[in-house]
Amino acid sequence: MKITAYGVRPEEQPWLTKIAQKNHFELIQTAAWLTADNVDLARGSIGISAFQTLPYSAAVFAKMAALKIPVLAIRNVGTDNLDLASADREGIEVSNVPVYSPAAIAEFVVLSALQLLRQAPATTRLVAQDQLAEVQNLVGGELNQQTIGVIGTGHIGLLAAKTFHNFGARVLAYDAFPRTDQPDWLEYVADLPTLLAQSQIVTLHVPGIKANDHLLDARALARLPKGALVINTARGNLIDTSALLAALTTGQIGGAAIDTYEFENQIERASESHQPITAPYYHDLLAMSNVILTPHIAYHTDVAVQNMVQGSLANILNYQAAKQLLNPVKLG
Ligand code: NAD
Ligand code: COI
Repeated sequence: MKITAYGVRPEEQPWLTKIAQKNHFELIQTAAWLTADNVDLARGSIGISAFQTLPYSAAVFAKMAALKIPVLAIRNVGTDNLDLASADREGIEVSNVPVYSPAAIAEFVVLSALQLLRQAPATTRLVAQDQLAEVQNLVGGELNQQTIGVIGTGHIGLLAAKTFHNFGARVLAYDAFPRTDQPDWLEYVADLPTLLAQSQIVTLHVPGIKANDHLLDARALARLPKGALVINTARGNLIDTSALLAALTTGQIGGAAIDTYEFENQIERASESHQPITAPYYHDLLAMSNVILTPHIAYHTDVAVQNMVQGSLANILNYQAAKQLLNPVKLG
């Protein structure tokens, strides 16, 4: 019995190896992202485990079908980069790991809010330039005084909301499908404009599906109170980056923490091939001292890594044993 894992990072290897030994299967590991050109490596596997933000294309699923590999088990939450119509057409089952550590992302969101409020990026720059007197001009804000707008109250949004609440902040939320187990400290509002009008800090926790493209566009950003802070750890397509840059320039937006950036695939490809980064607005944002850019690392904790590997391999092994997929990802 063989499983092939793509996009393997060094920190995942011990977990992959341990589970392979315990469950007596042969494990093929590669750091390469899964593409139509390297599916052949998985010939004879009962399933593929993969981890990437680059697209899983129709050609990948066609090759998997030709090689009779029945399952693609991604090691993460987001499913926006999967061509699910093609998977369905080719008869490939797809699973994800829907809950590997919402706390990892929620804590990162609160960290981002605190860094922006206390003007950490500007402070770090000034200290590095020996402009210590200038640092005294940077007055911070307190999280306990803020109204936070949480967009999406699923696994991660709810935990982010709870963590903000624990800091003493007022937490407003908007979700297309509000929770039925709403805690009493969480105030749902009826629609996005109402949420935006009151939020000094807004944080996104909705999926990167097409329907959510540019959920925060120029109009939405203009609805926020002047100087509001924007945090995106969900998916890059949720924010119109050009509009965000314009709003940062006028001061309408006071700061932004972008972990998931609209053109992140361009950056990954450039970084992989050691080419200069030419992705739109990237260098403009990087130059701003009220912007924090991180390369999609909100999830990246020891707990998350272990759970991602275990969850993905469990999905494949369970499918092999019971012909039933845990955590299936289905078309819309
Ligand atoms: P989830 O499915 O548990 O919750 C998503 C919520 O969004 C649901 O309650 C849904 O009703 C709501 N929703 C969808 N569209 C909406 C809209 N237009 N307006 C209002 N509400 C809407 O998802 P999750 O596990 O909490 O993940 C949230 C996001 O975080 C996803 O985009 C996911 O891909 C991303 N993510 C990022 C990282 C990272 O490292 N940066 C890690 C994991 C997940
Ligand atoms: C997810 O789990 O969906 C993430 O965004 C993490 C990622 C690096 C793919």
